[in-house]
Amino acid sequence: MKMRAAVLREMGLPKPYSQSKPLSIEEVELHPPQAGEVLVKIHAAGLCHSDLSVLEGNRPRPMPMVLGHEAAGEVIEVGAGVQDIRPGQKVVCAFVPSCGHCAPCREGRPALCEPGAVANGAGELLTGGRRLYAGKNVLHHHLGVSAFAEYAVLSQHSIVPVETELPFSQLALFGCAVMTGVGAVIHTARLPVGASVAVVGLGGVGLSALMGARLAGARQMIAIDTQPAKLALASELGATHTYDARLDNLVELVREETGGGLEFVFETAGVVTALVNAYQITRRGGTTVTTGLPHPHHMFSIPQVSIAAEERTIKGSYVGSCIPSRDIPRFIQLCEQGLLPVQKLLSKTMPLEDINQGFDELAGGEASRLVVVM
Ligand SMILES: NC(=O)c1ccc[n+]([C@@H]2O[C@H](COP(=O)([O-])OP(=O)(O)OC[C@H]3O[C@@H](n4cnc5c(N)ncnc54)[C@H](O)[C@@H]3O)[C@@H](O)[C@H]2O)c1
Ligand SMILES: [Zn+2]
Ligand SMILES: [Zn+2]
Repeated sequence: MKMRAAVLREMGLPKPYSQSKPLSIEEVELHPPQAGEVLVKIHAAGLCHSDLSVLEGNRPRPMPMVLGHEAAGEVIEVGAGVQDIRPGQKVVCAFVPSCGHCAPCREGRPALCEPGAVANGAGELLTGGRRLYAGKNVLHHHLGVSAFAEYAVLSQHSIVPVETELPFSQLALFGCAVMTGVGAVIHTARLPVGASVAVVGLGGVGLSALMGARLAGARQMIAIDTQPAKLALASELGATHTYDARLDNLVELVREETGGGLEFVFETAGVVTALVNAYQITRRGGTTVTTGLPHPHHMFSIPQVSIAAEERTIKGSYVGSCIPSRDIPRFIQLCEQGLLPVQKLLSKTMPLEDINQGFDELAGGEASRLVVVM
């Protein structure tokens, strides 16, 4: 079938993207779903910093590619052998497909699925190969999803059926920002009730972490970002103190306010300085969790002695250590009960044509989540 999609042919074009237009809106060809695959009408797709990192060249991917990995839509058609998924069902996309059979999948850690990582790195579906074409040229899939398009063909293991009346513009956010942020708190850190928490970087992921910390019963929540608008939103979401990340004496101020730092600190900015600050405001015996995905060449250094002498823990968190088929429906229910105000993450919706401008706004740091609606 023919459809419109946002195609990236070259990484690293200069900003502003509204002028350089790295994403071109084109008519492309989508082949039908093969065995184990599903055709989904995409209704909404969020702009995540991980998409921006591909545009910038900080997360190098095979080109050309149809970007977008945080999305929700409706099943149109299922390929041979697909069970438990029917046309008409609403689905949220998961950006790491999980085979269910490899060692991490068997351990209940689908975010680390080995064939899933290989397929995502190659820009292919978990089922193998690609279904997107521009003329005779094959286009790569982004994280098995490629949602900046009217339709997507995905592995059945890249979607989670959901039953909810939440609008698609909110549902999309559960696929990446919410799973990553809430999951980092609940699953990666296993936050105990009454813990003290800081979140460094208040985009879609960081604000979700803040919501997760509130839900999990944090007694103190410090929010840190370079953007005043983000600090204001964090206060609305329950942050007890907010700090401008650009302050020269940020670490001293936070350590003083908290009597030596916080028990759990989440780095959700994706820059090394944010992780350094996060580590330095973690108290003795505390845990620093990092979700940021900076350029692979960026290094993080800390005094080695602090790890042993202060019994410090640094934990990485991918997809919030979630099991998408379990956690997406759960987090949606928590949202419906008013316990996860995901609607507060949504800055605005926009048509596919405005996507380059949208990435300028995301890069500027003022918007939390911008969502393309199809
Ligand atoms: N681990 C995962 O599974 C996963 C999933 C999604 C996104 N990510 C990564 O997480 C990071 C955040 O993603 P996002 O979509 O929320 O990004 P975003 O662009 O929406 O938000 C990043 C925020 O960090 C702030 N910031 C920038 N520099 C800062 C600094 N030095 N100190 C404090 N705050 C600073 C920005 O102002 C912005 O508010 C990115 O690196 C992204 O690639 C990881
Ligand atoms: Zn993402
Ligand atoms: Zn697996």
